[in-house]
Amino acid sequence: MIGLLQDLLAPFYLQLKFIHLLAVMVWVWSTSVAYAYYLVPVFKAWRRNPGDEGVIELRNWVMERFDHGASYEHIAFPIVLLTGPLLYIAGGWSTSAAWLTLKILIIVGVFLPIEICDYYISHLGGNKRRIRETGDMVRYEQAIHRHWWFFLVTSGPVMVFAMAVIYLAVTKPI
Ligand code: HEM
Repeated sequence: MIGLLQDLLAPFYLQLKFIHLLAVMVWVWSTSVAYAYYLVPVFKAWRRNPGDEGVIELRNWVMERFDHGASYEHIAFPIVLLTGPLLYIAGGWSTSAAWLTLKILIIVGVFLPIEICDYYISHLGGNKRRIRETGDMVRYEQAIHRHWWFFLVTSGPVMVFAMAVIYLAVTKPI
């Protein structure tokens, strides 16, 4: 079965790699400008002026736009997760490629749990626009706080491990 799949996919190895890489780029960078130049400044302003109505209005607007904007990242991630294993099969890769095994461990151990939380707080139960439309502003405020904590906890590890995964994949040092 795997052998048959490998025979079918092998002629398209480079095309698969092209899609994999394109999706990796979108996954890694699509939220970066919005995060660094919109989200972080407005959240810092809110931490400095927690009662300022104007800042809170801006914070909520930016956060709701960010929930929506994260769609690019969250469409790209499943494409990365699909094309990666297809490349694995097409290329006849195995666990003897230590760089690849380490890369997969980082993805499963670090990125999968983070992304599951991120899907939930951005698009599902934690989506700010939908919570606002229910009129429950206490829950809305809790969702904003939770998302802010999510950023504080995950941003550092995400940047370090994303660069580590790309470094492993490109240089294959081990
Ligand atoms: C966050 C997830 C991932 C990121 C950031 C990522 C990143 C990359 C990058 C940058 C390359 C290009 C390497 C090059 O052309 O020199 C690559 C290739 C590859 N990736 Fe991924 N990848 C991810 C997920 C996966 C998964 C889940 C698998 C397999 C289970 C996988 C398997 C592969 C394989 C087999 C190649 C081809 C290596 C080669 O032909 O040189 N990737 N990946």
